[in-house]
Amino acid sequence: MRSQKTLGWMAGMAALAAVAALHGCGSDDNNSGAANAPATPPAATPADAATASANIQAAWVEIGDGNQAIARVITRYVPTADAGPNGACPLLTVNGTASRMTLRVAPATAPLRTTASAPADSKPSEFPVSVCEATLPAAATSAAIGTQALPLPKATPQRIVVLADTGCRLKKADNAWQACSDTEAWPLASLAATAAGFNPDLVLHIGDYHYRENACPPDIAGCQGSPWGYGWDTWQADLFKPAAPLLAKAPWVVVRGNHEECARAGQGWARFLDTRPYDATRSCDDPANDAAGNYADPYAVSLGGGSQVIVFDSAKAGKTALATNDPQFIAYQKQFQTVATLAAKPGMTTTIFTNHHPILGFAPVAGANPAPGNLALQSVMSNLNAQAYYPPGVQVALHGHVHDFQAINFASAHPATIVSGNGGDNLDVALPDPLPGGSVPAPGTTIDRITHHASFGFLVMDRRAPPSTGWQFKAYSKAGKLMATCDQTGNTIACDKTGFIAP
Ligand SMILES: [Fe+2]
Repeated sequence: MRSQKTLGWMAGMAALAAVAALHGCGSDDNNSGAANAPATPPAATPADAATASANIQAAWVEIGDGNQAIARVITRYVPTADAGPNGACPLLTVNGTASRMTLRVAPATAPLRTTASAPADSKPSEFPVSVCEATLPAAATSAAIGTQALPLPKATPQRIVVLADTGCRLKKADNAWQACSDTEAWPLASLAATAAGFNPDLVLHIGDYHYRENACPPDIAGCQGSPWGYGWDTWQADLFKPAAPLLAKAPWVVVRGNHEECARAGQGWARFLDTRPYDATRSCDDPANDAAGNYADPYAVSLGGGSQVIVFDSAKAGKTALATNDPQFIAYQKQFQTVATLAAKPGMTTTIFTNHHPILGFAPVAGANPAPGNLALQSVMSNLNAQAYYPPGVQVALHGHVHDFQAINFASAHPATIVSGNGGDNLDVALPDPLPGGSVPAPGTTIDRITHHASFGFLVMDRRAPPSTGWQFKAYSKAGKLMATCDQTGNTIACDKTGFIAP
């Protein structure tokens, strides 16, 4: 007991010393710590270099299966040879007691693998950073790495920020070169800061974090100097740096997008964001393992008060219906069977299914009628549930992928469907207004009302006060202008505006 306490004291003092070293105010910190020091203090502990904030590139909390709260850190610290397996990792102080985080994955350069681009436009993915992690106990009332406090999960979050499709597009195949250095053209940094100002209890990112796949051509001014490819430098520029205010504000629920499939940014997904333990077979480093790396079992995150979110990985879903003997059909069939089990949980009034690709939403097509929802996923879902598509118990579906905002209420018995893929990447054209007669996202569905816009922005979900159940969804512009307010109860959603909303 005593030695445990002393160890905790030493770790705490080490963290304090690291803080003091950083801020050049050692005597004050030592004095403030002295009041609680044992009568005979242990020998002075040198500053813990692994905890120094200069080494910490990103720190956040994400929520995994069973509401596990996972603290993650990306660090550039290189430990001495005798520092042990977790020597790169900082001390995490929970409720005043510091302990060293566990190494998730060490620095490495992944050899060049098959990517979505031609070999000449690809390169090995360099990760000159360690990723460390620790599970936060449910009893945690404070958590910090050095001076940086980590946000803690709430059992019954009241406000959730939703965003998706946030990166800056550099893609040779489409000759698409977004101006990453122009905050109007690629607004993620200001959008994330604005969203953080809403003080969410939780953030839900519905996929496509990484878009800088190819090198900016020399004649395009707006993206000069941008990192590209699938290594750390690009992840830092596309997500961790601009989204830092939102990562600091609340724990995240992370959904995987098609940009994080193995042949694209899957290596970074596995290292940084996947909630499961790091595993070489699903690291996306070796294309021979892509069948394992491109799929994941769904899991539920309880929101308390009768609400839950079911997180579904559709990263590899294609655009066409699947044959029942296709391995991908079988993989998604298994995933949707798990969704049915999760959605059947007793006591739920609002089960929110979330995956990247819209299933009962639209994809606008310039100059033509809108395209329907994802045909690959629909083919699996209709095989399981006929034209209900979703299993019983799913009231709401939240997606990204299409770069606009859509809120759809069905006259048929289908979940209220919301698309929120307008978080920073190049926007899609607006859907036609009104929708051409007979437009449906899938056979057997009937649209009652659709509300949509095609401006940059995000969603704020507020839990509705009892006796109402469900959530109020507010669509905001990137600058925080309220675009629409939609009240959801069960599988219905009623917005204060219908049709296209001008910015
Ligand atoms: Fe996408």
